Amino acid sequence: MPPPEVLLLGPGPSPTSPLVRAAQAWPLLGHLDPAFLPLLENVQQRLRELFGTANAFTLPLAGTGTSGMEAVVGNLIEPGDRVVVGVHGIFGQRFAEAARRRGADVVEVRTEFGAVPDPAAIVRAIQAGPVRLCGVVHAETSTGVLLDLRPIAAAARAAGALFAVDAVTSLGGLVWQADDLGVDAAFSGTQKCLSAPPGLAPLTLSAAALRRVAERRSPPPFAVDAGLLMGYFGADRAYHHTAPVSLVYALSAALDEVAAEGMDGRERRHRAVAAQLRRGLDALDLAPLVAAAHATPMLTSVRYPDGVDDRVFRAHLRNVHRIEIGGGLGSLAGRVFRLGLMGHGARPENVLRVLAAIGDALAAQGRAVDIAAALAAARAG
Ligand SMILES: Cc1ncc(COP(=O)(O)O)c(C=O)c1O
Repeated sequence: MPPPEVLLLGPGPSPTSPLVRAAQAWPLLGHLDPAFLPLLENVQQRLRELFGTANAFTLPLAGTGTSGMEAVVGNLIEPGDRVVVGVHGIFGQRFAEAARRRGADVVEVRTEFGAVPDPAAIVRAIQAGPVRLCGVVHAETSTGVLLDLRPIAAAARAAGALFAVDAVTSLGGLVWQADDLGVDAAFSGTQKCLSAPPGLAPLTLSAAALRRVAERRSPPPFAVDAGLLMGYFGADRAYHHTAPVSLVYALSAALDEVAAEGMDGRERRHRAVAAQLRRGLDALDLAPLVAAAHATPMLTSVRYPDGVDDRVFRAHLRNVHRIEIGGGLGSLAGRVFRLGLMGHGARPENVLRVLAAIGDALAAQGRAVDIAAALAAARAG
């Protein structure tokens, strides 16, 4: 039995397009097949363009966004390294924990979840002592806060620290300029704004990051060893692991769609539907957690009005309207719901559909709502 069609408007995965779905069904080839390798090279090149980098080490790592994070900490951190991590949500917290598990002396620069971090606080922590690496989350999916990377990148560079960014939710939704910013390591996931299935982590490492790998006292973990990975993803095309060929097909199709739209247009689309959503939420008397100026366009966290039960609300959307949305994480559990309008899912008709479903779910819990007004507000402008 095939699973039901569910509209994926949560924090990920996002909906895949017909083209991406069809690509997953292309004939399976070996990961060293002469017909597969040019396709892989093309994917790597288009990932460079997407990240805004000339880094030779740019590749779709097997595994989800979390493996991209493991690859960064596994290659770039050794026991005793002082590492500064900006923590303003669950994913920053996980980044800090992953670094600690590599033996780093982690300095967490914490901001209350949902509040906007002050980049100057991270800059001060970088300047307070020798730092091997500074890690931050660009688009914090647990809250919907977008971080201003530029001042942090500049401070990391001035301090001689590597700058590593979690781009899981931002890549493919916002224009990325890794080289221009001075990013040494960035990792993403395919299931957010790229709208390919989960299972690959686009990853890029700068020449400075690779020098750091070469200077290590001990080799990195085998599965994510940058040198071994380049054995396969570089000119040698030597076996390191069996690349998930069908996922690379899907990513290739997703990148075709990104190229056809262009990143400027794609960012504009994400911003336009986010604004549309906010107008409709306002008409439903619902307040986003984060002000628009600091919010991620692809993910909007929304406060529950008093008395609305999170589980009942989300079950209504899933079971009655066949729409998946996300709940709050950590200290925000039960207090917010999270709407993702990502990649193929970021379109006006989905905004209207989810606003109507939200209105209906609120009405089912006894609240007076004007769904028609919400739809009209969303359509206006
Ligand atoms: C910002 C951020 N970082 C990392 C991850 C982890 O990615 P994955 O779940 O693909 O392992 C996520 C997933 O939601 C995320 O949103």
